[in-house]
Amino acid sequence: MTHGSDLKEEMKKKLIEVALPLEAINKEAAREKSIRHGHPSTLHLWWARRPLAACRAVLFASLVDDPSSLPEEFPTEADQDRERQRLFRLIEELVKWDNSNNKLVLDAARQEILKSTHGSPPPAYDPFCGGGSIPLEAQRLGLESHASDLNPVAVLITKALIEIPPKFAGQPPVHPMPQGRMTGVGMWQGVRGLAEDVRYYGQWMRDRAFERIGELYPKVKLSQQQGGGDATVVAWLWARTVECPNPACAIRMPLARSFALSSKPGKKAYVEPTVDHANRNIRFDVKTGNGTVHEGSVSRRGAKCIACGTAVPLDFVRAEGRAGRMSAQLMAIVADSDRGRVYLSPVAEHEAVARGANPVNIPETELPEHALGFRVQLYGMLRHRDLFTPRQLVAMSTFSDLVTEARTPILADGASPEYANAICTYLGFAVDKASDRNTTLCSWESKMDRMRNTFGRQALPMVWDYAETNPFAGAGGDIAGCVGSLCEVLEWLPATGFGSVTQLDATAASSRNAQFMCSTDPPYYDNIGYADLSDFFYIWLRRSLAAIYPQLFSTLLVPKVQELVATPFRFGGSRVEAQEFFEAGFRRAFQQMRLLQNPDYPLTVYYAFKQSESEEDENGDGETAVASTGWQTMLEGLFSSGFQVTGTWPMRSELSTRNVGRDTNALASSIVLACRPRPDSAPITTRKDFLALLKKELPRALRDLQKGNIAPVDLAQAAIGPGMAVFSRYGKVLESDGSAMRVRAALGLINQSLDEVLSEQEGEFDPDTRWALAWFEQHAFDDGLYGEAEVLATAKALSISGLAETGILQSRAGKVRLLRRDELTEHWNPSAEHRLTVWAVTQHLIRSLDKNGETATAALASKVGGLAETARDLAYRLYVLCERKGWAEEAGYYNSLVVSWPAIAPKAFALS
Ligand SMILES: C[S@@+](CC[C@H](N)C(=O)[O-])C[C@H]1O[C@@H](n2cnc3c(N)ncnc32)[C@H](O)[C@@H]1O
Ligand SMILES: [Zn+2]
Repeated sequence: MTHGSDLKEEMKKKLIEVALPLEAINKEAAREKSIRHGHPSTLHLWWARRPLAACRAVLFASLVDDPSSLPEEFPTEADQDRERQRLFRLIEELVKWDNSNNKLVLDAARQEILKSTHGSPPPAYDPFCGGGSIPLEAQRLGLESHASDLNPVAVLITKALIEIPPKFAGQPPVHPMPQGRMTGVGMWQGVRGLAEDVRYYGQWMRDRAFERIGELYPKVKLSQQQGGGDATVVAWLWARTVECPNPACAIRMPLARSFALSSKPGKKAYVEPTVDHANRNIRFDVKTGNGTVHEGSVSRRGAKCIACGTAVPLDFVRAEGRAGRMSAQLMAIVADSDRGRVYLSPVAEHEAVARGANPVNIPETELPEHALGFRVQLYGMLRHRDLFTPRQLVAMSTFSDLVTEARTPILADGASPEYANAICTYLGFAVDKASDRNTTLCSWESKMDRMRNTFGRQALPMVWDYAETNPFAGAGGDIAGCVGSLCEVLEWLPATGFGSVTQLDATAASSRNAQFMCSTDPPYYDNIGYADLSDFFYIWLRRSLAAIYPQLFSTLLVPKVQELVATPFRFGGSRVEAQEFFEAGFRRAFQQMRLLQNPDYPLTVYYAFKQSESEEDENGDGETAVASTGWQTMLEGLFSSGFQVTGTWPMRSELSTRNVGRDTNALASSIVLACRPRPDSAPITTRKDFLALLKKELPRALRDLQKGNIAPVDLAQAAIGPGMAVFSRYGKVLESDGSAMRVRAALGLINQSLDEVLSEQEGEFDPDTRWALAWFEQHAFDDGLYGEAEVLATAKALSISGLAETGILQSRAGKVRLLRRDELTEHWNPSAEHRLTVWAVTQHLIRSLDKNGETATAALASKVGGLAETARDLAYRLYVLCERKGWAEEAGYYNSLVVSWPAIAPKAFALS
C-alpha cells in the first residue's frame, strides 16, 4: 500500500474512471437472476442483492489502472484503446457465472490486480454489506475482505459467506461415516467437508423433528383413479373465512382469490364450492378437467359471499380480523402420487389434526405498527407469530430447538466448539429458509403447480387463500431440501483468504485505522425497510443461535433507530424530517469512508434507481428517476463529505436489451459511481463558469460514451457522471445570488447541456436528415401542413419535392408526412439512391433489424459505407428526442439499433 504518499500515484486513473464493458456486465447480471443452484441468494434470503457479476467487474476495474495512466507503456491513444480492449475481454470472462471458480480466469484477474497495485492490493471494506455480494467478490479477487452492517441478519449472512468458510477450508467432515470416503486428496476442497457435515446434521435434525412432530402431517388416501394407496401430502390449501354480515345468511364465507388449483394443460384442477344452506356451511370438492371454475370471492376491491351474493367491503373483513374473528377452512389437499401431483378434496381428520397443533415457547415479538409494504396488520396480524398457523409454529420451534440441540452430537463426533458453531449457523439458516415457506402468506400458484414463498416481494401483503406446506414432503419448504440447497452454496464459495464481518452503524465514528478500498451499496432512500423485514428471520435465528452469537442477538428485534431509511412514519409523518435524517446519515457515513479510503483507489458506490415496478412517476410530483429526491439526497451527502465523482455507470440486471421495441426502455436499475476524495484546496466557481466548462467537457465525454456503445436509454444517466465530475470538482458553485448551487439545479443544467451537445452533433447529418429531424420532432409520423413543411425546408435550402425524391416522405393534398418504417420499400438498394440520407439509412436499418435480424441488417449496413456509423449517431439523437416526448415505443427502436451495433458492425465490415 502506498497510502497516497506518492502524488503521481494518486492521480492515476483506474479503468472504472474511464471505461467499462457495460453490455457484457449487464448481460451476465441479468442471467444470474435465473441461477438457482449454488447462488448466494439461496443461502439466505436478502432483499435486492446486487448481482455478483456487477460487483466483480466494479471491484476489478477499480483496482486495475486505466492504460491512459501508463503513458510509457501505452503512448498513443490507439495503444491505450487496444490495452483497454484486452482488459475488457478479461472482464467479459471474469463476470460469467460459470467462471466464478475458474482458476485460470481468476488467476489472470489476480495477476492484473497485482500488476496495478505494486503487488499489494488494498483490503476492501463495505460498510453496508447486506447480503454480502460485494465482500464476497472482493474475497474472490484475492483481497482481504472487511464488511459491516447495522442489521444482525445481514452480518450473519455475510459472515457465513466470507468469514466462516476460510477458517475451515480443506477440512474433512467430522461426522461418523464409512472410512473409505475419508480419503482422496483434494476431496475436501473449499468447504466441501463443512457442507458434508451440514448435510449430515441437517438430516439428523430432520429425522429428530419427524420423530417429534411427524404425526401432525398425516398421509392421504388416493382414489383408484389416482393410483390408490397412501400418499404424502405436499400442502394443505386453506381459505380464510369471516362470517357473512348479511344476518339472513351468516355463513362463514370463504375468502379465496381463486378456486383454480392447477391450470396446467391436461392437468386442470379446481375447487368447487357447494353451499349447504341447511347446515350453514360450504363444502369444497376438488374437480379435475375443463369445468367452469367458480369466480374468486375476494380481490382488492372487496369480497363477495358465495352463499348469498352480498358484496362485503374489505373494511368489514379487516374489522373482523382485528376482532379475532377471522379463521380458515380447508379447501383442498395437494399430494404426490406415483403419477405426479394430485389434488384431493378436504378430509375432516386432516383439518382436525391441523387445529390440534399446540405450539409452545414461541417468540412473542410484535410486528411494526407501520412498515413499508406491510399490509397484514390491518387484518389483525399484529405479532410475528400471527403469520403462522399453529402447526407451522410447532414445526418452526421444533426445528429451532434442534439447531441448538445439534451441538451436542456434533461435539461428540469430535468437532471443535468453533466448528460446531459454524455447522449450527448454517442449520439456523436452513430454518430461516423453511420459515419463508411456512407462513400463511404463501400462496398456491396454479399456473406452476407449486407454492410461492412469503417474500416473493420485499413486503408482507395479505394472502387470502394460502398453502400450508408439509416440511417433510420433499417439496418446497422441506427442511432437508432447505439444508441441501444451502450446501450447494457452501460448495461453491471461494473460502479463501481472510474475511471479517462486524455489526456496526455506518454513520458512527469508526475505530479502524487501516486504509481500504471502500465499495458499497447503501440503502436507497425509502425503497426497502430492511430492519422491519428482517425481523421475520431474526426472531428464529435468535431463538436458535443466541447462545453462539450473544452480542449479535442481544436485542429483542433488529435495531431500527439508526437504520438509514427515509420513512416519514419513523418521524411522526414528516417527510422533511425523514429526508433530513437520511441526508445527515449519508453525510456521516461518507465522512467515515473518506477517512478510511485509500486515495490510490476510487470509492465505488452503488445506488439503486427506482425499482422497475415503480418507475413511473408514482406520486405525480413530476419527479423522474434521474432527479429523484433519493438520488439528490445521496449526492448531496456524498459531495458535502468531501468526495468528487469521477465516473458513473448505469447497471441493469433486468432482461436482455436485445429485443426490439418496448422492453428495451427499462431504465438501468442502479448506477455505480466512482468517487475520489476532493482536495481540500478545491476552488470555488460560478454558475456561468460551471456552464461553460460543461459545454467544453461534455461533448468529449459523450463521444467516449458513444464510442463505448452505451445504450441510448442509459445515456442520460451515464452523462451525470462527467457532469457531476465537473460540479464536484469545486468546493462550491455559486449561483448568481451568491448561494451555493444545489445538486438538483446542477442535475438540471447537466441534462440541458446534454441536449445541447446532442443537437450540436446534428452538424454531421445531411440537410435532408436535419429537416426530417426537425419535422419529426413536431409531427412524428403524422400529417402536417405543406406550407409549414416548406418553410422549414426553405430555411435549410431544400424543397419538399426534392425531399420527396429521397423516399422518406409523402406529400399529398396539402399535407406532408414522414413515411413510417412499415411503408418503406422492402427491397431497398442504397447503391441505387442518388440522394442517400442518414434518415433513410437509419429507418431502413431498424426496419431490417426488427424484421430480418442482425445478419441481414449487417448486409444492408455494408452497402452504405460510413453512413452506417452516422446512422447510429442519429439513433442516439432520436432516442433522446422520443424519450423527451414520451414516445416510449418509438424510442425503443432507436435504442435497439445501438444496442445491436456491436453484433452488426463486425459482420458489416467483413462484408464490405
Ligand atoms: C442495499 S443494502 C446492501 C445490499 C448488498 N449490497 C447485497 O448485495 O445484498 C443496504 C444495507 O444497508 C444497511 N444499513 C441501513 N442503515 C445502516 C446503518 N446505519 N449502518 C449500517 N448499515 C445500514 C441495511 O441493513 C442493508 O443491509
Ligand atoms: Zn352471505
